[in-house]
Amino acid sequence: MKVIKTVSELQKIAFKHLKNGDEIGLVPTMGALHQGHESLILKSKKNDDVTIVSIFVNPAQFGPNEDYLKYPRPTTKDLQLCKKNHVDYVFMPTLNEMFPNNHKTFVEVPDLQNIMCGKFRPTHFRGVATVVVKLLNISYACNAYFGMKDFQQFKLIETIVKDLNFKTKVISCPIVREKSGLAISSRNLYLSTQEKEISSKISKILKEALRDFKNKNLSYLKKTTVNKLNKIPHIKIDYVDIVNFKDLSFADKDTKKAVLAVAVWIGKTRLIDNIIMTK
Ligand code: PAF
Repeated sequence: MKVIKTVSELQKIAFKHLKNGDEIGLVPTMGALHQGHESLILKSKKNDDVTIVSIFVNPAQFGPNEDYLKYPRPTTKDLQLCKKNHVDYVFMPTLNEMFPNNHKTFVEVPDLQNIMCGKFRPTHFRGVATVVVKLLNISYACNAYFGMKDFQQFKLIETIVKDLNFKTKVISCPIVREKSGLAISSRNLYLSTQEKEISSKISKILKEALRDFKNKNLSYLKKTTVNKLNKIPHIKIDYVDIVNFKDLSFADKDTKKAVLAVAVWIGKTRLIDNIIMTK
């Protein structure tokens, strides 16, 4: 496994692989790797000739009062996880390598970046879109892997790749959950034992909504989900939305495939989760 720190080196190596006819898989991450990331790596190892994991805590996707400085950076553990899973290259650029002072270009998808999480994190998806486009160009990825926990992020990248004619295939991987049902996330590291325990109720509430999707109307479903979530101690809801799977527009009675997506605060930790519901 080779650790690469510069854009030019990764581009050189990736281009060589491409010329040899190798299929390149990219797993973009911000580190603090967990079983969710591991599932993306394993999928790439299965599909691709070469697997690249990028580890870059991207300041462009954090708001001014968010946790950029506090975000966990357990580099040694992350590299061990990559090595254990036979990753070929780990790309770990510095901030200046990815965003030198003269960086001026940003990628925006207004329809998808100002709804749901975007309402509460106005610059977040512009930062995600920009860094992912850069990573795709640097790695020459044939396939790029994203977890479905951040469903809005997945849809955003899928849309960019389609609209801007990237050759990369965007591949989604299911949410990986703890035994309790809690969606695994790097930010779970912030939760106390008690907060972790109560956070597991979120996925149970989503599952109950899934059960009701066929028989109850959407406003009932949303209202009961909000009411149940509000019973969790120390919770503050950012949003509960039921959107079309296809394009994140609000779902209505004719929607056959919807996503119930939530973002909540448990104490000082912001958690997101969702469930796909089909009729
Ligand atoms: O999902 C993440 O970890 C990040 O948003 C990503 C895709 C690596 C971009 O920084």
